Amino acid sequence: MTVEETQAPAFAVHLNGSGGAIKGWVVVDSLVDGLAMGGTRMTTGVTEEEVAGLARDMTDKFTLAGLRIGGAKAGIVSDGSNREETFRTFGRTVKPLLHGGIHLGIDMGVTPADRAVFFEEAGYDPRFRLGAPDMPIDWRTYYEPLIDCTGHGVGVAAVTALEESGRTESARVVVQGFGAVGRAVARFLEDRGHIVVGVADVQGTISADRLPVADLVAITDEFGRIDRSRLPQGVTQSGEPDAWLDVDADLLILAAQKHAINADNAHRLRPRLVVEGGNLASSAEGKAKVLAAGATIVPGVIANIGGAGSAALAVTRVVPFHLEAEARKAWVFEWVGDRVRQNTRDLLEIAAGRAGDPLPELLAARRKERG
Ligand SMILES: NC(=O)c1ccc[n+]([C@@H]2O[C@H](COP(=O)([O-])OP(=O)(O)OC[C@H]3O[C@@H](n4cnc5c(N)ncnc54)[C@H](O)[C@@H]3O)[C@@H](O)[C@H]2O)c1
Repeated sequence: MTVEETQAPAFAVHLNGSGGAIKGWVVVDSLVDGLAMGGTRMTTGVTEEEVAGLARDMTDKFTLAGLRIGGAKAGIVSDGSNREETFRTFGRTVKPLLHGGIHLGIDMGVTPADRAVFFEEAGYDPRFRLGAPDMPIDWRTYYEPLIDCTGHGVGVAAVTALEESGRTESARVVVQGFGAVGRAVARFLEDRGHIVVGVADVQGTISADRLPVADLVAITDEFGRIDRSRLPQGVTQSGEPDAWLDVDADLLILAAQKHAINADNAHRLRPRLVVEGGNLASSAEGKAKVLAAGATIVPGVIANIGGAGSAALAVTRVVPFHLEAEARKAWVFEWVGDRVRQNTRDLLEIAAGRAGDPLPELLAARRKERG
């Protein structure tokens, strides 16, 4: 088995539609044992380059986690109107890929209902694949209880990095993005005695000496927007762009958009530790500036594997499906936590011995271990 180390993806296809028109791409960055997987993104501005970058990220995630599957990603250019037809066309168009070992799931702008539409149109059920044992439960039964798995892994990365830095007291935490990932990380860290002092959503930043996470979760909608008319007493609000960077804290969790930290705003960062819950959460220039200033970044390819990793565990049939629901969930959370903890520790060990970005060295080591 080899994972491609070359720059070019294994293959990239343009989607023009079958029985209807769509515009998009599927990029398969690498194949392992004939398998690859990744999410499907639907935005008005998605490009082939963006899809390729995200597919490479998937390869890196699976390599770091030691999962025997390659990285892929799909992108559809659309504003989401007429979505039923879009996903029916998408399902017909990617049918040969889905049946050929390329599992496509959900990413930005695509919902579980959309996935159900394109799986149905393609006649694809991930429970069954030629040459692999059948999954004894359906995809939703397996995957839906794992909604907090990404946040769990991001929390483990944060706690591990705090421990490795020798910190023993509570950390003050800012969480940028209060969606599925941000909320789960905030709860995880508060449960372990850390103090959330700032939270940001698309409308701005909320801060206080101590923010009550459960109260904020209760006034947040499904899109991760916090209702400003029901905020707890004594909190400060800011609508300034990127005001989450200015909050005095020890740890910043990035759980929102791509390139949240970039060349223009990196100099404002106050915490010494950044953990990426989002994909490509720091641009290359932003990351270089943060590292040059002596702060630590645990990248998304290490920290946020929960969602992709738990899907890959099922596609590669590693999950002990005979376990009952609670035990199965605990097994997956523990598996993800163990991989994130080990990768975080190894990354920080490399970082301690050299300047610059330690990730390429860790990736090279993991590639070698996998043979
Ligand atoms: N959900 C997962 O399992 C998963 C897995 C891996 C990676 N990710 C990535 O993590 C990130 C968050 O995912 P999610 O599922 O929580 O998304 P979500 O849509 O549930 O929430 C996104 C949050 O970010 C906020 N936000 C958007 N733009 C912002 C901005 N400019 N400033 C501040 N806040 C902003 C939104 O208001 C919302 O609170 C995304 O990059 C996603 O691709 C998610």
